[in-house]
Amino acid sequence: MKRIAFGIIGCGLMGREFASAAARWCHLPEMDVRPEIVAICDTDPRLFPWYAGNFSSIRQMTRDYRELLKNPEVEAVYCAVPHNLHREVYCATLEAGKHLMGEKPFGIDRDANAAILACMAKHPNAFVRCSSEFPFYPAVQKIGRMIEAGEFGRIIEVNAGFLHSSDLDPQKPLNWKRMVEINGEYGCLGDLGMHVCHVPFRAGWIPRTVRAVLSNLVPRRPDGKGGIAPCETWDNATLLCDAVDSRTGDNFPMILKTQRIAPGEKDTWYLEILGMKSSARFSTKNPKRLEVLNYNGGEQIWGQIDVGQDTAFKSITGGIFAFGFSDSILQMWAAFLHELRHGRPPSQFAGCVTPEETALSHRLFTAALESQRSGTTVGV
Ligand SMILES: NC(=O)c1ccc[n+]([C@@H]2O[C@H](COP(=O)([O-])OP(=O)(O)OC[C@H]3O[C@@H](n4cnc5c(N)ncnc54)[C@H](O)[C@@H]3O)[C@@H](O)[C@H]2O)c1
Repeated sequence: MKRIAFGIIGCGLMGREFASAAARWCHLPEMDVRPEIVAICDTDPRLFPWYAGNFSSIRQMTRDYRELLKNPEVEAVYCAVPHNLHREVYCATLEAGKHLMGEKPFGIDRDANAAILACMAKHPNAFVRCSSEFPFYPAVQKIGRMIEAGEFGRIIEVNAGFLHSSDLDPQKPLNWKRMVEINGEYGCLGDLGMHVCHVPFRAGWIPRTVRAVLSNLVPRRPDGKGGIAPCETWDNATLLCDAVDSRTGDNFPMILKTQRIAPGEKDTWYLEILGMKSSARFSTKNPKRLEVLNYNGGEQIWGQIDVGQDTAFKSITGGIFAFGFSDSILQMWAAFLHELRHGRPPSQFAGCVTPEETALSHRLFTAALESQRSGTTVGV
């Protein structure tokens, strides 16, 4: 079993998810490579005891990411820091000669993303990917295999989205994810957009133009210190894209939604593909359920399949048992380590987001901002 020594920069919500996935590696009996967390960094040392108490492999805990990057033992780094730090910390990680799993949006804006990709070009030996876990749900892997096999026929329409309701409460205090200077001008697009684009981009469905409608539904929020502060990030975005199927050159409408204020929704990621031969739809609201319609000229019948643990990377969990969010994180990390070790993913949709795919997402989100400003359709 090959061991890759990891450092984590940013020990908050997502840093802990990675650490927990690393601790659960015994779930993946066929992996020939595993992560070992040897170093952690966060400016907030109150986060350290949870890591220290659960991971005896951690030998370095620091508040300065430069110290972690100087550690020769660290081979790969997971950076899960606020968006305004992506450019600085990701580039420093690459310059230190480490492999990088970055978080979305992989740069606070298009310039930052371009700087990260330019830095990557100078360090071609580094393996670099961006985190996005929802395509690892077994039902989505099955949709991926249908796309690879060309089962949909000519694409009629694609609908994809990621919906939250946590900001429906106008009394919810502001945090960095609602501040333009830290989260970025993209707002909900930067937070949720890459998740929505991962499968369409991997399928080769490329947006050529976009008409975006963005809304800031709660422009002021409690600041958590007894006052009220402006909340300037976009809450909700709907993008109508003219997309082209790069396999065939055919175009079709692709409607992408990222919403923080979607009543009734909690982390709902969905994908619907309507094709001339087959159609499929999936939502994490019903995480076992895959719906498929195959059209052969007869009745058009939506069938329902309960998908169990039919995962890209074999798991010890019984095939009939249900799959959940933390399983998708574990599968995503298996994909990162597998590709780092073997040079390619086991199949087209069992790979993490590439830096080039993040660059395309930045083109789309930047065009979406322009579309909102001008009220027109904008080229991507
Ligand atoms: N893949 C997903 O599903 C998913 C979900 C949520 C967030 N994210 C992304 O993960 C990243 C982090 O988000 P989060 O939810 O974990 O945020 P978080 O606020 O919970 O954690 C970020 C951590 O970074 C630390 N930090 C800030 N400045 C630092 C510095 N200079 N050096 C070291 N640490 C520093 C903070 O103290 C905090 O603990 C963001 O890019 C976000 O978009 C991804």
